[in-house]
Amino acid sequence: MPLYSEKVMEHFLHPRNVGIIEDADAVGEVGNMKCGDIMKMYLKIDDNVISDVKFETFGCASAIASSSMATELIKGKPVEDAMKLTNQAVAEALDGLPDYKMHCSVLAQEAIEAAINDYKEKNPEKFPITY
Ligand code: FES
Repeated sequence: MPLYSEKVMEHFLHPRNVGIIEDADAVGEVGNMKCGDIMKMYLKIDDNVISDVKFETFGCASAIASSSMATELIKGKPVEDAMKLTNQAVAEALDGLPDYKMHCSVLAQEAIEAAINDYKEKNPEKFPITY
């Protein structure tokens, strides 16, 4: 059995949404200390919906495929839905990742979380604290 699914290879070789958004509403950058890979997510948000998303990933094949798939999964979705995206959902959408490569999908989840946190910090009025 090949190490990577066809979907992983497809998203690695032809990643979707690569690049930067100059006037992004939110940016999140995360890194993995162990492997040294870095992922940066740019979000454009209109009416609480992610209207555009781009990423830059300096990392392994799984990290690039995970970023690509994660951007596809959140594009056009409400911010609330993107916040709930798990790394398992990213890996499943890629038809699985080898166990020792699951941390690469975690990077995608964390990069989106970091970008949304950036958005929240910049727009506190849109996220009232509820007790
Ligand atoms: Fe570091 Fe894949 S090996 S993210």
